[in-house]
Amino acid sequence: MANLSLLGGPKTVTLDYKETAALPLVSKDAINAVVSLCEKGEISSSPVVGEFERKFCKYTGAKYGIAMINGTSCLHSALFAVGVGPGDEVIVPSFTYWASASPIVATNGIPVFCDVDKETHIMDPKDVERRITPKTKAIMVVHCWGTPADMDPIMEIAKKYNLKVIEDASHAHGASYKGKKVGTIGDIGCFSLQGSKTLVAGEGGILITNNRDYYERATALGLYERLGNLPEDSSYRQYSMTGMGHKYRAHPLGIAIANAELDVLDAKNAIRTENALYLENAISDIECIIPQKICEGGKRIYAYHYVRYDKEKLGGIKLQTFLKAINAEGVACGPCGYGRLHNQRLFTDGDVFGKGCPIACPYADKDRSSAGVMLPVTEALAETAFMLAPRFEKPCKELLDQYAAAYHKVASNIDELKVFENEHADELKSVKAESGRSINLLK
Ligand SMILES: Cc1ncc(COP(=O)(O)O)c(C=O)c1O
Repeated sequence: MANLSLLGGPKTVTLDYKETAALPLVSKDAINAVVSLCEKGEISSSPVVGEFERKFCKYTGAKYGIAMINGTSCLHSALFAVGVGPGDEVIVPSFTYWASASPIVATNGIPVFCDVDKETHIMDPKDVERRITPKTKAIMVVHCWGTPADMDPIMEIAKKYNLKVIEDASHAHGASYKGKKVGTIGDIGCFSLQGSKTLVAGEGGILITNNRDYYERATALGLYERLGNLPEDSSYRQYSMTGMGHKYRAHPLGIAIANAELDVLDAKNAIRTENALYLENAISDIECIIPQKICEGGKRIYAYHYVRYDKEKLGGIKLQTFLKAINAEGVACGPCGYGRLHNQRLFTDGDVFGKGCPIACPYADKDRSSAGVMLPVTEALAETAFMLAPRFEKPCKELLDQYAAAYHKVASNIDELKVFENEHADELKSVKAESGRSINLLK
């Protein structure tokens, strides 16, 4: 009889993830806060938004905070705030969710994709520096999966070339670098509060900065109703009747959820970290699984638990076969959807107005299409990174032991994996990630 569940053997994970490791997405406190706003009729604007902004600023140590309708609008506003416009280049990794890059196009700027480091999964400062041109205006750093980028070299490059730094901290609520919360090290930090994040509004986002001008400019792009309240000397007050064509006001019901959840964020992050590290330690002898490396001085959170697979350490078994076998044992895991942005039509063509703009507009430095851009580490990582496990929100040692046992079982049955691989080549082709998604669990 076969050992692997993939070939008809017994399944290793018998506990139910939802029962043992998940929490309701919206806590009782958050539900009560939402109900209270509904009862008061505060469903379009509410003081809870300002309360959340002040609380998040206190939590991160930032001076200004602006809640918005989603993380994407925060990123767009941040780019606009630091002055990215037609023809300006912004260096951004391809190994990220699309919203780190697409809003650059919305400002009429040009995303210039850079490579990542294979151990950290985060932008490689050396490659960033190689891609700087006289048109470069900013660097978009992504704290991928909840792991802080090594900010010192990035900030040094920014200083040397007079560039702005935006931190996309959408995966990293509460993560820190050398004692500072991520999002406060560059010029502006942006956090998604979408439903899969570690701090949720359902749909929502928050932008933070210490710079008054960036704060006012970011407000000007999408929050017309606040412009009249800016200080008398603000040049943005003049747009209070019209805004600038976008409406990015946060939904108070969503923000009420995030506001309640912020009170327990650190406690939740601590449990997630303890569980993730327990699992990583329990499988540390499995050589084909390589955890994401954390830079010196970095304190990560476990928003998404991605690792790297080295097939040479498992007899050449394909990642697809490995994942199918792990999944058949009852583990929620999946392939990686990041690392393919530079091949997407928006960036290879980018003629969104039918006039060549922004990729080849008159302000651009020739044609800055991403077609043909070489990102060897990113492309390799896209094929080898995988989601090890979901987020474990409660103490759940027994389930973690079952997950570790499943990984051990699969890694010690190479012969059965080979049998499956030889007989199911077509089935394995379907084990693909949906490009650009942060979570791609196998069913
Ligand atoms: C890295 C990253 N940046 C930006 C975003 C965009 O946030 P939102 O979905 O709230 O617009 C996400 C959301 O998934 C993300 O993962």
